[in-house]
Amino acid sequence: MEICFFIYLHNANTIKPPHCHAIIQSWALLFLGPTEDKLCYKKIARFFTGDPNKKAIDKLSLIVEQINALEPQFEALSDEALAAKTDEYKARLAKGETLDDLLPEAFATVREASKRVLGQRHYDVQLICGINLHHGSISELRTGEGKTLSATLPLYLNALEGKGAHLVTVNDYLARRDGRWMGAIYRFLGMSTGILQSASADGASGRAFIYDPDESSLYEETHQLRPVHRKYAYAADITYGTNSEFGFDYLRDNITMRWDDRVQRPHHFAIIDEVDNILIDEARTPLIISGPSHEDSENYYRMAQVVKALKPEDYEVSEKDHSVALTEIGVAHVEELLGEPLSDPPERPEDILPEQARLLGFWSKVCARSFSSIATRNISCRVARLSLWTNLPVA
Ligand SMILES: Nc1ncnc2c1ncn2[C@@H]1O[C@H](COP(=O)(O)OP(=O)(O)OP(=O)(O)O)[C@@H](O)[C@H]1O
Ligand SMILES: [Mg+2]
Repeated sequence: MEICFFIYLHNANTIKPPHCHAIIQSWALLFLGPTEDKLCYKKIARFFTGDPNKKAIDKLSLIVEQINALEPQFEALSDEALAAKTDEYKARLAKGETLDDLLPEAFATVREASKRVLGQRHYDVQLICGINLHHGSISELRTGEGKTLSATLPLYLNALEGKGAHLVTVNDYLARRDGRWMGAIYRFLGMSTGILQSASADGASGRAFIYDPDESSLYEETHQLRPVHRKYAYAADITYGTNSEFGFDYLRDNITMRWDDRVQRPHHFAIIDEVDNILIDEARTPLIISGPSHEDSENYYRMAQVVKALKPEDYEVSEKDHSVALTEIGVAHVEELLGEPLSDPPERPEDILPEQARLLGFWSKVCARSFSSIATRNISCRVARLSLWTNLPVA
């Protein structure tokens, strides 16, 4: 699997210096001894070898020139002809061309699609960033410099192989915001976008969506997002999610009782946003999944009683999406039956206490089991609160 990184540290080098640069730095350290001014050694190395970043960027600029030269040709294409490029590239890959061969055209395609769909033209530095990420290196872009748009280039290119491309980010909000935002570009080019969201801190039951502009909702959390089973979000061409969702799904896939219950495909290509946060800060918190305990069975029993007491107006079952969701009335009814609120404060479903997250985990599991048998009956209710949305097993 190939992984590349985004970083937003202000003092990190964008591209690894060549070895000679590092060797000269070491010599300077050896002959001059340690000093407080570490930059001094860098300056000495640069005096002899030139700026290593500049050299690397100059090399990438040649590819940028190729992409820019294609712009008039792509601008002249109709929307349909531009979208048809995706199938053309897939066919050329099948005939033996490599991703590197296709890179200039694929990047020019994404840039043109972005201009038409979002009205944003990738800057040349974003193209350089995209090439660098495709090569598996770290790119440093500071806050607000457009990491979200830059990532579309290597994601599209690598998704052409049909094995999935992942964008790993730091929280649910960014996963759905960026997936929905950039999903418009991928959709224009005939690619689907999956979005993973967590439902509970115990990692027991995440939610998943496919970007679909026809799906409208009053809630930001579900607007333009069609709920699907996790498997379908992973089957999408490009999947946005958090590190913990990708990680927990990987762990759960390794303890499933049936092969078919696994949701992930073999890993192919991933870009990590805010890599210092994810691989350093977040990495200090281990992902742990555990088996059932005695206390769990009591909670399952308690939830089963609550599910039995639900009235038709309390929930909505979608046969199409294999999902069940509580209505606003249902949330109030469940909270009344449990004798405690399910979110804290109740009007902000994302702010849930660890104990509430555990309860929601039990809720999801009991729901999935209880409602799977009635999912074929057409029960219609009103819009659901997102935090109480549950995937039903795929028939
Ligand atoms: N090529 C472009 N043309 C026009 N606007 C752009 C372009 N690239 C990025 N932007 C705009 O810049 C703003 C910041 O972009 P984005 O959120 O991707 O930055 P970021 O690098 O991810 O920042 P952060 O570190 O805060 O996450 C957005 O409003 C985006 O639309
Ligand atoms: Mg960002």
